[in-house]
Formats: sequence, structure tokens, C-alpha cells
Amino acid sequence: MTRDPDDEAPAPSQPSPPPPSPGTAPAPGAAGRARFDYAGAVTLVTGGATSLGAAIAQALHAAGAAVWIADVDEAAGDALADTLNARRASSAWFHATDVADDASIAGCMRRIAATHGRLDLLVNNAVVYLDSGIASPRETWMRALGVNLVGGARVLASALELLETSATPAVVNLSSVAGKFGQRGRAVYPACKAAILQLTRSQAVDLASRGIRVNAITPGWTWSTALARQAGGDRARADAVGARLHPLGRVGDLADVARAVLFLGSDAAGFITGIDLPVDGGFSALGPDQGRAPAQWWSPEPQADET
Ligand SMILES: NC(=O)c1ccc[n+]([C@@H]2O[C@H](COP(=O)([O-])OP(=O)(O)OC[C@H]3O[C@@H](n4cnc5c(N)ncnc54)[C@H](O)[C@@H]3O)[C@@H](O)[C@H]2O)c1
Repeated sequence: MTRDPDDEAPAPSQPSPPPPSPGTAPAPGAAGRARFDYAGAVTLVTGGATSLGAAIAQALHAAGAAVWIADVDEAAGDALADTLNARRASSAWFHATDVADDASIAGCMRRIAATHGRLDLLVNNAVVYLDSGIASPRETWMRALGVNLVGGARVLASALELLETSATPAVVNLSSVAGKFGQRGRAVYPACKAAILQLTRSQAVDLASRGIRVNAITPGWTWSTALARQAGGDRARADAVGARLHPLGRVGDLADVARAVLFLGSDAAGFITGIDLPVDGGFSALGPDQGRAPAQWWSPEPQADET
């Protein structure tokens, strides 16, 4: 059975390939900086210490932003902040933050307030891939909802004052294609990701009068730590499997998603709020017929691409 890459991690007995290099994110001088100017902007990325969050943090930084990384992974968060500060002094901060803990979130906001007095872009990216399907015990449900859904909601609520101080405040919530379609064996993660899309619409409508734009991004399979682990570190294999679900013929890069974040947070998206922006290579356009014409489904022979 094919499952989404943003899935619960496989058993620890499997060899763990090295995570995708942050170099897959837009590097300084790459498209992120060329297209968007974040000089002077204050940004916050939850779950920003590793994988997609780190790529987003790096892309924002490469575009000139001051970047706050809020994550429970202190070693990775500190290391990323050091890397970014080596590129540009006093431009990145890590604050150990558990988005499931209001006091922890408040501590992060206090530091941003003391340092900058405002926040221009919040990216709610932190996630836990806890999911045992329909059999998931209450603890799993509550923990996953607490981080994946309520976490982002509480971070936004806590950041409101700082966002309102910005001239161009924006929020981007990370959803997933997993939140749009039924999948066997999963219940918790897709429910969280579907709820994020609805929450985004409510937040957008609620906060429009305060000038705060709120949008969601729905990545497809993205060459992240989770997907690299599933593919045994083999990008070609991930692309071969992913091509059947993504009409553009490959899985997404971290940079694909990061650039979409930069777009939604920028003035270029100044009249856009409450949307879901799929960054999925056409995954959500494919439909239940897998893009095949009816004649192909009636054919007795398996299709050439059905390997
Ligand atoms: N990887 C994919 O292919 C994919 C596809 C669709 C959507 N997404 C979405 O993109 C986002 C990032 O996914 P990823 O694959 O990079 O995830 P990941 O598990 O690799 O990284 C998640 C990050 O969140 C941090 N985190 C976990 N719990 C936290 C907490 N309580 N407080 C603060 N930080 C916490 C982790 O330490 C980690 O740095 C998620 O919202 C995910 O749903 C990913």
C-alpha cells in the first residue's frame, strides 16, 4: 500500500538515511532571494529546526529576513541559528519552544517582543506524525491534535499583538494532501491536516479587519526527512513512486514549498487570504481516475505505467 511520505516514522530497526541536506532549500542567491525581498522582516517558523521547517527558515533568511526558530529540538535549532548567524550576524535566533505548551509559546513571544517588538510572518509548520489509524488511543489523538492543530492555533493567538504591530502581517499554516483525501490506515494526521484548512479560513475571516492575512499550503510528497527515510535515502526511487501520484513526475523539493511560503508571506500575495495553496505537482488535480480516460479503465490489459 502506498502511503503519504508525511507519515509516521517506520520502525527504528530500519536503517536511517541521512536527512535531506538543508542545501535542498534555496541557498543565498537562489530563487528565494531573487524573487522576494524580506530585508527587515521579522519571521518565526515553528518546527523550524529540521527538515521542511529548516528549509523555510533558510529561504526566509536568504531573502533577508530575521528568523526565529521555535522547536523542541534544541541541538538542531541551535546549530541552524549558528549557521545562519555565520552568514549574517544577529539575524537568527533559536528559542526552545513546545507548541503544545502555552507557557512555552509565551516565552518565545516575549523574546521576540523584547528583540524586535513585532512579527511580520508566522509559519506554523511544527508536526508530530503520531497515527495508529482508527485504533489510535485517546492519548495519541490528544497529543497529535495538541501539536499539529491546537499548537498552531495557540501560537497564532499568542502572536497576535506582535503581528498587529507589523505593517504587513501574514501567517502561513502547513497542511498536507493527506488532509484532503481518505487514506487507509490513517486517521489522526489527516484529521489534523484537514482541520488546519478550516482553521485557516476561520482565522483569515476573523483577522482580515486587523490586516492579518492567513493562508495554508498543502504540500504533496516532499523530499523531507520523513520521505527520505521511507525511500531509504534514494531520491530516484521516491521520484519513481511519487510520479504516479504527482503529474509533474517527481516528488516536491523542500525549496518548492519554501518558495510558496515566501510568496504567501510577501506583498505579492497582499490581496490573498484564507486560501489553500497546493504545492503538490498536481496531486490534488489528479482525481480518482488517476488521470486516465474511461477507455483506459475498460482496457483488459494493465496500463504501461502500472508496474
Ligand atoms: N514531508 C512531507 O512530505 C510533507 C507533506 C505534506 C505536508 N507536510 C507538512 O510540512 C510540515 C513539516 O513536515 P516535516 O516532514 O518536515 O516534519 P518533521 O517531522 O521532519 O519535522 C517537524 C519539526 O517539528 C518539530 N516539532 C515536533 N513537535 C514539536 C513541538 N511540540 N513544538 C515545536 N516543534 C515541534 C520537530 O522537532 C521537527 O523539527 C508539517 O506540518 C507537515 O504536516 C510535510
